[in-house]
Amino acid sequence: MSELHVGDRVELLGPLGRGFTVADTACAKLLVGGGIGLVPLFLLAEALIAKGHKVRLLMGGRSRDDILAVTEFERLGVETYVSTDDGSLGEAGIVTRVLERKLDKYPCAEVYACGPMPMLAAVEQVCATRNVPLQVSLEAHMACGVGACLGCVVKGAGHSDQAPNYLCTCKEGPVFDAKELDWGRAVATGAGCPEGGCR
Ligand code: FES
Repeated sequence: MSELHVGDRVELLGPLGRGFTVADTACAKLLVGGGIGLVPLFLLAEALIAKGHKVRLLMGGRSRDDILAVTEFERLGVETYVSTDDGSLGEAGIVTRVLERKLDKYPCAEVYACGPMPMLAAVEQVCATRNVPLQVSLEAHMACGVGACLGCVVKGAGHSDQAPNYLCTCKEGPVFDAKELDWGRAVATGAGCPEGGCR
């Protein structure tokens, strides 16, 4: 794409996969993101605000470099909370600590998250403990985008060697209900699923 010129023609295939599903409930909408994971949350925040919802975004990262577009979110009307591991921006500490405080305040909540896998796993643990619905948007290297190359698979809930359950991030995701994924076995993208393919 960097070699394209103005007026060049390109072929696009899409839209592909599944996006976030927004429940029209009165429960608090809490978005959790870090790094490039904040980008899809911007579109979600726009959609939620267009439907009249109040949106709170918890932004986490190792340092200030992982925190993007605070001003853009705030211009939309999103209430933002920043935390960094090294304290270089916002509150010092991990984003799940902020999430726990928000869930103490808003026990009726829906959480939407996108970011690095360790962050998503920590968010999943908090939400599962409190029985709060969580949707996660996974990041994966994708080649075909249509479920053919199997380069983007993750382990689904109930996966075992005897009963494999692989899901294609491109086709069945990239947004999953957290309950669809196998968190106990450390969801890993790009594992490949040679037998049987994806569901
Ligand atoms: S990118 Fe090829 S199966 Fe997902």
